[in-house]
Amino acid sequence: MCTPRAFLFAATYMVAAQSAVGGQTTGLGQPISEADVAPWAITVFPSGRGLPPGSGTAVEGAKVYEIKCAACHGDAGQGGLGPVLISDRKRQGIDESTVTIPNYWPYATTVYDYVRRAMPWQSPRSTSDQEAWDLTAFILEKNDLIPPNSTIDARSLPLVKMPNRDGFIPAFPKLLPAKHPVADQAGH
Ligand code: HEC
Repeated sequence: MCTPRAFLFAATYMVAAQSAVGGQTTGLGQPISEADVAPWAITVFPSGRGLPPGSGTAVEGAKVYEIKCAACHGDAGQGGLGPVLISDRKRQGIDESTVTIPNYWPYATTVYDYVRRAMPWQSPRSTSDQEAWDLTAFILEKNDLIPPNSTIDARSLPLVKMPNRDGFIPAFPKLLPAKHPVADQAGH
C-alpha cells in the first residue's frame, strides 16, 4: 500500500533524480556573476594574451620592490623568506633549490601573471597592473634578460626570449609567444 509518507519519499526521490539528470542545480550556493569572476579572470598567456595596457620600467619597479618585496626576497633579490628572484646561478637538473626565474621559467609573461596574481605573499591580488608592469621590468632587467633602461609593454614582453624557453614541451603550441602576440591582444 502506498502511504502518504512513502509517496512523499518516492516523489522527492524522483525530483532529485530528475534534477541530476536534467542538469538542474541542487539549490545550494548561489549563481556567480560575470562581475564576480572578472577580478580573477586575469590569466596572462605565454603569447601575451591577457596582458593589460600600460608599460613598465625597472627604475619604477625598484621603488615598488623596495617597499613591497625586499623584506622577503632580499634587497638584491638574493632570496630570504621568499625564493631567489635575481641570480646568475646555474640550474642543476630539476633540483628545486637551484631553479630560478632566469634559469628555468620559459616565458617572461609568466612573471607578470605571477606577480600580479600572487604577490606580495601575504596580500595576493593587491598589486596593481602598473606595479606589475614595473616589477616585471625590474626582475627581467636585473637578471639581464632585457637591455638596461628598457620599457616593456604588451607588445615587447612576449618577445623576450627566456634562456630555458626550449626546455619545455608545450602542451598548447598555439598559445606560445610569437604566435600572433599582437593579434591575441585584440582577442583573436
Ligand atoms: C611575506 C613574504 C613575501 C613578500 C612580501 C613577497 N613575496 Fe614573493 N614569494 C614569497 C614566497 C614564500 C614565495 C614562494 C611561493 C611558493 O612557491 O608557493 C614567493 C614567490 C615569488 C615569485 C616566484 C619565484 C619562483 O622562482 O618561483 C616571484 C616572481 C615573487 N615571489 C615576486 C614577488 C614580488 C615582485 C613581490 C613584491 C610585490 C613579492 N614577491 C613579495 C614571499 C614573499
